[in-house]
Amino acid sequence: MPKKIAIIGGGGFAKEVIEVALLNGYEIYGVFAKESSLDEYKYFGYLDELNKLKDEFDGVHIAIGVVNQEGVENRRVVIEFLKENSIEQISLISPLATIAKDVKIGDGVYIGHKVLISVGTSIGDSVLFNHSCLIGHDCKIEDNVSIAPLVFLGGNVIVEKDVMVGVRSTIRQGVKIGRGSIIGMCSVIIKNIKANALTLPIPSKSYR
Ligand SMILES: CC(C)(COP(=O)(O)OP(=O)(O)OC[C@H]1O[C@@H](n2cnc3c(N)ncnc32)[C@H](O)[C@@H]1OP(=O)(O)O)[C@@H](O)C(=O)NCCC(=O)NCCS
Repeated sequence: MPKKIAIIGGGGFAKEVIEVALLNGYEIYGVFAKESSLDEYKYFGYLDELNKLKDEFDGVHIAIGVVNQEGVENRRVVIEFLKENSIEQISLISPLATIAKDVKIGDGVYIGHKVLISVGTSIGDSVLFNHSCLIGHDCKIEDNVSIAPLVFLGGNVIVEKDVMVGVRSTIRQGVKIGRGSIIGMCSVIIKNIKANALTLPIPSKSYR
């Protein structure tokens, strides 16, 4: 019998997560979210309902997308709730991802299509790797980090807890990104970033 997974989140990113869950052979128990646009899956309500029904499925996956600080915080609150209520998080890895054999992967990790994770890297719990990001050798990625599509992390990069790395950002080898930081899309990071920082690249100007 297929294992049943509950999805936390009801938007576009949840749709992507469900695709990977199905590719991994899971049955979707239903959606728990503040609101859901996923009409084809049963919607139950949010965290209180999840806790009441927790014996009916094998585990959950947090499918709340991250485009800014608010997304990081929303996920952090859910992670705390799951810990307090002993609800198991299931990792979901696309069959189209390439991951070195010795990579350590925590609970509730999402790895999307075409992600590449190199040797010696360790990944905490509830980390999100969106499509086509490239993670170098011996990186350390802590809990609740979100890495957007097309990000490049050089070797030995450390990303502390609760960080978002925006789409297409590049992080030089050996750099540490401090806890709670937001790396805006297309940032080029060459030095350590302190905790709770915000980095922004130069945005394009319109000339006509
Ligand atoms: C940096 C970022 C997190 C800011 O998002 P936000 O917190 O929602 O903030 P807003 O977009 O409302 O912007 C806040 C202010 O910062 C400015 N700003 C945003 N990005 C900027 C940039 N690169 N350079 C200069 N100013 C910027 C906005 O113009 C706005 O200014 P205003 O208040 O004067 O209008 C966001 O731009 C970003 O890079 N997100 C990542 C997106 C991503 O990776 N998506 C893929 C996910 S799968």
